[in-house]
Amino acid sequence: MLGLKLPTDPRWVDIATKNIEDILIDHAYCEQKAASNGISLIVQFPERTKLVDTCTEIVAEEWSHFERVLAELKKRGYTLGHKRADEYAVQLNKLERKGGHIDRQLMDKLLISALIEARSCERFRLLSEEIVDEELRKFYYELMVSEANHYTTFLELAKEYMPEEIVKARWQELLDAEAQIIASLAVRGDRMH
Ligand SMILES: [Fe+2]
Ligand SMILES: [Fe+2]
Repeated sequence: MLGLKLPTDPRWVDIATKNIEDILIDHAYCEQKAASNGISLIVQFPERTKLVDTCTEIVAEEWSHFERVLAELKKRGYTLGHKRADEYAVQLNKLERKGGHIDRQLMDKLLISALIEARSCERFRLLSEEIVDEELRKFYYELMVSEANHYTTFLELAKEYMPEEIVKARWQELLDAEAQIIASLAVRGDRMH
């Protein structure tokens, strides 16, 4: 699905569906980080109109996702709780090549954003299939569709600033690296990643 090279370990969804409070809290922060990432792209690349316009839309959507997760938490009598460590994101962000041409760095940022969208989309699909709560199944289905759109949007945006062949080659490298990261991390059913 979505080009990912390693499917999520089936144990993840088994544990996750039994840890709804933890999953919702961690998920809320995933939406917050997605919104923050969009904002920082806008601030770092203000002269790129297409990027600014696209990221502005994405930020609004990610923030509305955050609001929706917050509402699901409240409905169940839970509070947001503190942000948890996100080793997956830390490892993924290390794949960004610093220095060199700024367009190459921008491409890496956009492709890493696409990877996170793709993996989130895969996990939302699993939740939409396995969660007992009918309302949450629908919720995760809707968000899966939205994150799939973000995934393609980030990939397309990368092609605005770098030749398609270079983007495709780097995308394959990053897909391999992401699979290695997923394989190296413990299966945490209390985290989204
Ligand atoms: Fe989102
Ligand atoms: Fe997203």
